[in-house]
Amino acid sequence: MAEAFEIGKLVDALRAAAAEEGAAQAVQALLTHTMADPDWVAAGIPGYAENDVILHEDETVSIWHCRFTPGKTVPAHDHRVSAVIGVYAGRERNDFFESDGKGGLRRSSQTEVTPGDVLAIGPSAIHSVTCISEEPCCGIHVYLGNLTETERSLFDPDTGEALAFTMENYEMLQRTDQG
Ligand SMILES: [Fe+2]
Repeated sequence: MAEAFEIGKLVDALRAAAAEEGAAQAVQALLTHTMADPDWVAAGIPGYAENDVILHEDETVSIWHCRFTPGKTVPAHDHRVSAVIGVYAGRERNDFFESDGKGGLRRSSQTEVTPGDVLAIGPSAIHSVTCISEEPCCGIHVYLGNLTETERSLFDPDTGEALAFTMENYEMLQRTDQG
């Protein structure tokens, strides 16, 4: 690969893809192409100090760099917009949940995501994410909407109760999960 990976170029290309008619497919194709060489991405990406970095956000698309700490779980949540996640380092387990018809949730599927993998998630999907590698999981997360302005939910895995997506609820559920 002659040219070094440049995050600015990827962000520009993702913004263009997100403006297309079939945005989710266009973003997925672009991320799949990019993550096909995860070491190239890892070598060129900046060493971000924060675990979550918003690289771009507007009404059409939110582009995040996310790093998950080994052993940590992101509690079950929805996005309310389509999401496409491309991973270039580490290994994460995604657990997907669905209604159990009795007001609660049941796990419907589980998938492991490793470097080079791209995961497309529909707007109503509910998932939790656990970093199962000894190194952090790093990836580019693309949401087809303004994620920080979107009112979305966290879910208590035991009761299925939907809670507002706030830092308070996030930390409470993470403690529950760890305990
Ligand atoms: Fe998510």
